[in-house]
Amino acid sequence: LVLILDFGGQYNQLIARRVREAGVYSEIVPYDISMDEIKAKKPKGILFTGGPSSVYGQDAPNVDLEIFNLNIPILGICYGAQLMAYKLGGKVARPQKREYGKVELNLQGKSKLLEGLKDKSICWMSHTDYIEQVPEGFIVTATTDSCPVAVMENQDKLLYGVQFHPEVEHTKKGKEILKNFLFHICKCKGNWTMSTFIEEQIEKIRDKVGNRKVLCALSGGVDSSVAAVLVHKAIGDQLTCIFVDHGLLRKDEGDQVERVFRQQFHMNFIPVNYEEHFLKKLSGIEDPEKKRKIIGNEFIRVFEKEAKKLEGIDFLVQGTIYPDVVESGTKTAAVIKSHHNVGGLPKDLQFELIEPLRTLFKDEVRAVGEELGIPRDIVWRQPFPGPGLAIRVLGEVTKGKLEILREADAILREEIKKAGLDQEIWQYFAVLPGIRSVGVMGDERTYDYTIALRAVTSSDAMTADWARIPYDVLEKISNRIVNEVQHVNRIVYDITSKPPSTIEWE
Ligand code: XMP
Repeated sequence: LVLILDFGGQYNQLIARRVREAGVYSEIVPYDISMDEIKAKKPKGILFTGGPSSVYGQDAPNVDLEIFNLNIPILGICYGAQLMAYKLGGKVARPQKREYGKVELNLQGKSKLLEGLKDKSICWMSHTDYIEQVPEGFIVTATTDSCPVAVMENQDKLLYGVQFHPEVEHTKKGKEILKNFLFHICKCKGNWTMSTFIEEQIEKIRDKVGNRKVLCALSGGVDSSVAAVLVHKAIGDQLTCIFVDHGLLRKDEGDQVERVFRQQFHMNFIPVNYEEHFLKKLSGIEDPEKKRKIIGNEFIRVFEKEAKKLEGIDFLVQGTIYPDVVESGTKTAAVIKSHHNVGGLPKDLQFELIEPLRTLFKDEVRAVGEELGIPRDIVWRQPFPGPGLAIRVLGEVTKGKLEILREADAILREEIKKAGLDQEIWQYFAVLPGIRSVGVMGDERTYDYTIALRAVTSSDAMTADWARIPYDVLEKISNRIVNEVQHVNRIVYDITSKPPSTIEWE
């Protein structure tokens, strides 16, 4: 285990991922974690992240001096390095100009940390303050033209600081630097893989559950599916999965989920159909946030009702993943859409939680899913919102509109897959804006619905660009939808990025 002390830097999750990619398990913890907690975790190394503060700022994140005497190697990055220098008696200053972007390193002296690097290696800088003078016992092993201390080391005490960001791609040898730290300085073994993760979790789940019973609310999404299969592998039939079909799913989605979990994995799988119930609750409702709230609340009520029918359940499986854990509580962003209140279950359900994926990033969850033999269709599934098609039928949701949308969406998905674009496009779906317009079909005037196609590329859904789908693919989709789906006579393609738009239309 390597601990990553979080000082608020924007690349912190990236640091954790780089460490894990090297086969070393890492955890991000708040910078004010107590020394006792650190000792209890027995890390082989500690990383200090960057952060937006200045060490001289009021309320600047700080660490206990004792951390430098624990005999655990530490690598400070950017603010983390400045803090190390400052706490140990060095000097941090503010140069006239902030340094930002790609810069060349000038190496000097011998360094285990920089082993394998050539002079003039490129690194990525992004800082306002810098270290002017290193503390006693430290030497400088790299500078840049405008930075007197790009790398500092106390080789006896195994304390290291880098002013640049080894975790970002732009630092050409960044991965090597991190590996040098992990393997040569911390003496990590690098044998953390998804299969060891699965074995560890299975053991933990068995220990925790014993012979008691566990429930899971399966949505068919990647996270809850992987969590359920993992728990099933650990405890078999002691797990029961409830699949609430709110009638807002895509075409054939319920059947696909049932096929995988019941037939392939032979799990206790209880599908419950609440289509009529949800449609009734949504009747007359036009406001997107109201729709989300209703669906979220009803989902919980329905799940509770179904769970009550089962007896003697003590645990609930949740597909919580690491970004949810790291981001919850630190987000102060304005509410654009109340995403995360929807589809989730409240904390006060009468169950103890099992969250086997709590420490994993999305790509790691997918790797676990593949290792467990879950079909690619589910493991690599595009994100699908909890409120489902209800936020893709703009305004009031009706059964008829859902049917039109479902058919159009199925055609779009089929053609994108056929064209081999399904992996490179982040999300692709159809929207029913509720506009009707005039068309002509077989010499007859029509007055029918418009379908909007939405397809975006993105890496995290925070920002997105519209996908440049080839014209011939768009043409095929358009032709098929107007020919095969009744009551549609016009197709438009959404060419806005996020921001200023959002990915979904509501
Ligand atoms: P937006 O539309 O805000 O979407 O750009 C960003 C990502 O979040 C998904 N999304 C939701 N997911 N409940 C969910 O579980 C919701 O209410 C919801 N609204 C949007 C959206 O599909 C995209 O991946």
